[in-house]
This record gives sequence, structure tokens and C-alpha cells, in this order.
Amino acid sequence: MPQRICVTGAGGKAGRAVVAGLRAHGYQVEATDVVVTRADRENGMLAADLTDYGQAVEALSQADAVVHLANIPAPGLSTPAVTFNSNITMNFNVFQAAAANKLERVVWASSETTLGLPFDTPPRYAPVDEDHYPLPTSTYALSKVASETVAGHVAQWSGIPHIALRFSNIMAPEDYQRFPQFQHDPHQRKWNLWGYIDERDPACWPWRSRPRPFAATRPSSSPPRTPSCPARRPNSSPRSTPASASPGKSASSALCWPSTAPARSSASTRPTPGATTCLPRADP
Ligand SMILES: NC(=O)c1ccc[n+]([C@@H]2O[C@H](COP(=O)([O-])OP(=O)(O)OC[C@H]3O[C@@H](n4cnc5c(N)ncnc54)[C@H](O)[C@@H]3O)[C@@H](O)[C@H]2O)c1
Repeated sequence: MPQRICVTGAGGKAGRAVVAGLRAHGYQVEATDVVVTRADRENGMLAADLTDYGQAVEALSQADAVVHLANIPAPGLSTPAVTFNSNITMNFNVFQAAAANKLERVVWASSETTLGLPFDTPPRYAPVDEDHYPLPTSTYALSKVASETVAGHVAQWSGIPHIALRFSNIMAPEDYQRFPQFQHDPHQRKWNLWGYIDERDPACWPWRSRPRPFAATRPSSSPPRTPSCPARRPNSSPRSTPASASPGKSASSALCWPSTAPARSSASTRPTPGATTCLPRADP
């Protein structure tokens, strides 16, 4: 298991929770973000713009693995072209920098939007699963779809497992206060079929993500698996809030591509010949 983890987007919503979760479990965290406050800097966060390849290489240079969360995190925050170009550039740079630095693992944030969200146009069927992919309807979602393809190929070239997590809408503890109002008007959350994850859920994935064979992971007939994450949710239990009645928060599953990557080393996280590159999905 890697010990030194670079977390990109460390100043963001998911990033702060992931950094805290990793540190709580004894990992050495190399936090980086393009926006770094004085307090962040004093806490060791490195300022780096990941649209610049050299900065991406240096940001990852001391790490065994990377949890890559930095991106423009939704459609409509920047122009459509800036959203696509920024995200695809950041993602390629991080994947390529991980290969250049011979990291053991790349875990990165894809998005549920790759499955067709927002569902202003109804989904082809529900609940949606991996067979609803790819259906990008924004340049944000397109940046994630394209990045999944890029990640798959860099993983094959390098032999480094790349794990794309198709996060659903990320909720912070204070966001749960809005949940009761959703129950009076279900249409408010129709756009993503009432899904969400807790901001602390991404902190579980560095422990949970394991490359698995394609044939074993098709989701449609599999029962949901309940995440188990050590020492999580010390102060609250979002699943016991009114939102726990939501049908959205459920399973995770993995879509894996056979890899032709050669064996790289004896480290346990390195793939062997014929190993798989996995794209697990963090469902709503
Ligand atoms: N928030 C959600 O509901 C949601 C849902 C699905 C997927 N995601 C994905 O999860 C990840 C984290 O989302 P979040 O909600 O924490 O977003 P966030 O905006 O809170 O954090 C993203 C961070 O990336 C940093 N960043 C942006 N451009 C950068 C650059 N050029 N170089 C370095 N850092 C840069 C930002 O400064 C920010 O701190 C993103 O990749 C997002 O696309 C988010």
C-alpha cells in the first residue's frame, strides 16, 4: 500500500475531507492546489497549476500514489471550452506525470454526469448503471468521458492502475439541512435521480479501490455493496438523516478494462501481465 499520497484539489470540498481522512489513517499527504491560502501554505500545501505539465510532474514527485481531485467541478462555472480544455489538460498532465514519476496508483474523480446527467431528458432506464455510459451532455461531462479514455490508455502504457470514481453530487455535513425540503418537491433532485455522496466518502476510496477482473464486476445483477471505511463519520451519520430514505445512495461497482501492460515490479499494487485497469464508480 502506498504511504505518501499526493492529493490534488486539496483545498476543495472533497480534497479537504480526503486530506483529513488520509492523515487520520497515518498516510503522509502531499497536498496541492492552485489556490493556496496562507493557512494552507503553513499547513504544507503546495501551490501548483496542474494545467502546466512541469508543475504536475513536480507536484507528484515525492508521492507513491495520487488522489487527483483538481478540476473545474461542474458545468456552468466557466465557459464550456475552458471547462473542457482545463479539465482534460489537468487530467492528462496528472496521468502522464504519474507515469513519469512511476507512481503505484492513480485514483481520480470522474463524475456521474458521464451517465447522462442532468436528466432533464429522462434516462433510458432507471436505476442507471454502467451501460448508460457514455452519455455526456455538457463539456464538463465530456471532459470526464475523454479523461477516462485517456486514463485507460496511460494505464495500459505504464502498467499503473488508474481508478476513476464517478462521484455523485458531493454533500458536506451542512448540506444535509436542505434535505427535508427535497422531500416536499421530489422534482428538485430529479436531475440526478436523487443521488448524492458524502464529502467524506471519497476519503474511503484509497482503501477500497482494488482492480478487479471485468467479468466479475458487471453491476446489473449484483446486490449493492455497503461501503465500509475505517474511522469515518466520527461526529455525524448522514445516512441516518431524513436523506437516508433516498434511493440514491447505494452501491459502488467497477468497470474494468483488460490491460496488456507488462509487469513492472514486484510491488503488490503493480499489475502483472494481463492485469486489469479498473474504473470503479461511486454511485449516488
Ligand atoms: N462536487 C460534486 O458534486 C462533484 C460530483 C462529481 C464529481 N466531482 C469531481 O470531484 C472533484 C472534486 O470536486 P469538489 O467538489 O471538491 O470541487 P472543488 O471546486 O471544491 O475543488 C476542486 C479544486 O481544484 C482546484 N483546481 C482547479 N483548477 C486547478 C488547476 N488548474 N490546478 C490545480 N488545482 C486546480 C481548485 O482550486 C479547487 O480547490 C472534481 O474533479 C469534480 O469534477 C464533484
